[in-house]
Amino acid sequence: MGSENIITAIDIGSSKIRTVIGTFPEEWSREFNVLWVGVTTSHAIRKWNILDMEEFKSNLDTSLEEAEKMAGEQISGAYLSLNSSSLEVISSKGIIAVSGEEITSDDVDRVLDMARNGVDLPNREILKVIPEYFVVDLEEGVKNPVGMSARKLEVVAHIFSMNRNILGNIRKAVGDVGIEIYDVIPNLLASPEGVLTKRQKELGVVCIDIGASTTGITIYEEWVLKFSSIIPIGGDSVTNDIALWVRTSIDVAEKLKLDYATLRAWEEEPLLDTQISLSEINPGEEESVSSEYLWKIATARYEEILHFVRDELRRVGRDGMLPEWAILVGGGSKANGLIDIAKEILRLPVFIGIPVEKDSLTETSISDPVFASVIGNMVFANKYSVGNIPFSLNIKGMFESIVKVFKKILP
Ligand SMILES: Nc1ncnc2c1ncn2[C@@H]1O[C@H](COP(=O)(O)OP(=O)(O)OP(=O)(O)O)[C@@H](O)[C@H]1O
Ligand SMILES: [Mg+2]
Repeated sequence: MGSENIITAIDIGSSKIRTVIGTFPEEWSREFNVLWVGVTTSHAIRKWNILDMEEFKSNLDTSLEEAEKMAGEQISGAYLSLNSSSLEVISSKGIIAVSGEEITSDDVDRVLDMARNGVDLPNREILKVIPEYFVVDLEEGVKNPVGMSARKLEVVAHIFSMNRNILGNIRKAVGDVGIEIYDVIPNLLASPEGVLTKRQKELGVVCIDIGASTTGITIYEEWVLKFSSIIPIGGDSVTNDIALWVRTSIDVAEKLKLDYATLRAWEEEPLLDTQISLSEINPGEEESVSSEYLWKIATARYEEILHFVRDELRRVGRDGMLPEWAILVGGGSKANGLIDIAKEILRLPVFIGIPVEKDSLTETSISDPVFASVIGNMVFANKYSVGNIPFSLNIKGMFESIVKVFKKILP
């Protein structure tokens, strides 16, 4: 296996915990081989917090057990990713006087620290500080200022933070099952890494991760992170609506959604209406529900989610304006008919984002939009250092001061 980097990534979703072990032939590379993929259902975590610590730990344990079997030894550390509703992204500025003749990476670190320290975030932990652009003397829009002569260096950066107590509980649970956390990566940053190409990030793209209880939005343009935000609803709201309106359990509603709900714009001709007998899903139930009713419930909620997304895009002047794509990932992106209504509402070309591996040794294929976040976590971990990320994301070969912490878990 030579000097390949081996990375364990764990994505803590509110419906599933996904674990992936991958190898990367080289640093910076987006090319990887997947050695192991594991998925565990998790009901112990919801929008804001862990609901049941013991169940959460047992879910984590299950998800790691198989991986450890495969690895032949204990996994001692991993990169975590998640999209909590308690994540927040705000913009901040830093400004410093340059100490020497030209800007060094120490200056970049100092100005990023200033942006980090310039925000007052009580009871929040800062996870990442991502520069959008630097201002060198009066020249705006600089992506990498190192080596430039200047007296003054400014940065405009995105600060990703999360509620300290919630993150503390997650850290504790992961620590209790014997895993050292190398880094916590917001899925707002991880999911795009799993699916977007450099070309898309250059031309302008929005990645939309529709999970169980969150929808994450991240915009790139000219390789630079322009905007990121999180909406506290996802696919589970559709399930809840179905349970409420059909008056059935969450489990039956989830099955109805996955097997029978199709999204369609209101103005389209209705499909042939059929009756779905609930006893097919749960033998004890006597009612039936019409496919048209399901279509209406699911479409209304998905449209709401997409309207929220559109409002966020509008906030930064990007609705219908991105030159290229909207890429949908996460389980919610797999809803039947979603692409058409998303095109209509976002006024953008819409595609589903699928991570692709070079080579897979696993039974579970990662060629599915639900793996965007955990694969992106792994790719992100292979590319960037823990701590400050010195320059705009995705500009290869500029990072001189990277200290990487890779633990080899395989012989
Ligand atoms: N084929 C499908 N059609 C429609 N919805 C689906 C499909 N498959 C999964 N979903 C929905 O996707 C959601 C789960 O997505 P995902 O696994 O990405 O969430 P998560 O990562 O656990 O949650 P979050 O990111 O919000 O913490 C659930 O609401 C599920 O019902
Ligand atoms: Mg997710």
